[in-house]
Amino acid sequence: MKLAIIGSGKIVADFLTMAGDLPDTELVAIFGTEKSIQKIEKMKNEYRIRKIYTTYEECLKDTDIDTVYIGLPNHLHYSFTKEALLSGKNVICEKPFTIKLSELTELKDIAKINNLILIEAITTQYLSNYLSIKESVNTLGDLKIIECNYSQYSSRYNAFKNGEILPAFNPKAGGGALMDINIYNIHFVVGILGKPNSVAYLANVERNIDTSGILLLNYPNCKVVCIGAKDSTAPIKTLIQGDQGSIVLNGPANACDSFEVNINGQDSRIIDNKVHPHRMYEEFCEFARIIKESDFSKANQMLEQSQLVMEIAEEALTDAGIKLG
Ligand SMILES: NC(=O)c1ccc[n+]([C@@H]2O[C@H](COP(=O)([O-])OP(=O)(O)OC[C@H]3O[C@@H](n4cnc5c(N)ncnc54)[C@H](OP(=O)(O)O)[C@@H]3O)[C@@H](O)[C@H]2O)c1
Repeated sequence: MKLAIIGSGKIVADFLTMAGDLPDTELVAIFGTEKSIQKIEKMKNEYRIRKIYTTYEECLKDTDIDTVYIGLPNHLHYSFTKEALLSGKNVICEKPFTIKLSELTELKDIAKINNLILIEAITTQYLSNYLSIKESVNTLGDLKIIECNYSQYSSRYNAFKNGEILPAFNPKAGGGALMDINIYNIHFVVGILGKPNSVAYLANVERNIDTSGILLLNYPNCKVVCIGAKDSTAPIKTLIQGDQGSIVLNGPANACDSFEVNINGQDSRIIDNKVHPHRMYEEFCEFARIIKESDFSKANQMLEQSQLVMEIAEEALTDAGIKLG
């Protein structure tokens, strides 16, 4: 994978700390604004990125690049992804994929027509521990209840309360607790149970954005609650309950550290199959493989899952009367 990194914010800085460990991945270029040029030059030197671009069009013309990784604020995902696909590049786009479902379906069509890989960077789906959880749920009997709580007080909430609206709490920028944090919980659940029968979202809405909320996913035989909060903190954990046992995952759904499987009073095991300390390592290994092998079948499977998550997110936001974009 001959990669151009798009953006130089928090997630890109985090990604770069592990990018050197990735197989089959060449850091060809980084694109950012003139405003951040010093930061970008530092990243280039520290992580041996070959080139810098401050014009997106120029970056997309570079024939040394076959794939772009978009680490920009949510409301820019759609336009930057579309331009890259139309320039013949594969795209790995940060979560949430887009702000609207219609944007995602349009991008999917463009990727298909142009025979390109399009994929959402959503760590959960690729983590060995998550794949082990998916296997372990089969030992719990009939699943009854799943409860995911990802509540983390955001430093940007202080600014929001003081009247400053940063992208994380800006409806126009696709912010809010559901899109930013609860999206991981939705991916976690949908990867196990698929499409729910119905969706409801009870949100704390301040100035037209959800600062926290409770998402209810109704499956025929299993009831799910996904809590996402940026205005309060609580122990971050996920509980899966079946009639034969339970799973406890301490920590967020986007990292999936070790988890405990309890089989009704008889057996209790801690499982940890983590292969790398950085949560983004496994997803990017898989992206590099998918691109190297042109594995459209896997890419499309993941794209279907992203689309389902986006359908749920859109229905939930509509239910809470929240309009993004
Ligand atoms: N996977 C994960 O675990 C994870 C974790 C955190 C975030 N994310 C996702 O990653 C994305 C970025 O989040 P972040 O926290 O890294 O944001 P951030 O720190 O605010 O960084 C945003 C970046 O976008 C650039 N940018 C903003 N407007 C631009 C424009 N019009 N043209 C070109 N560049 C522009 C900024 O450049 P300037 O500063 O120069 O304007 C900055 O480099 C979000 O979608 C978020 O949901 C994922």
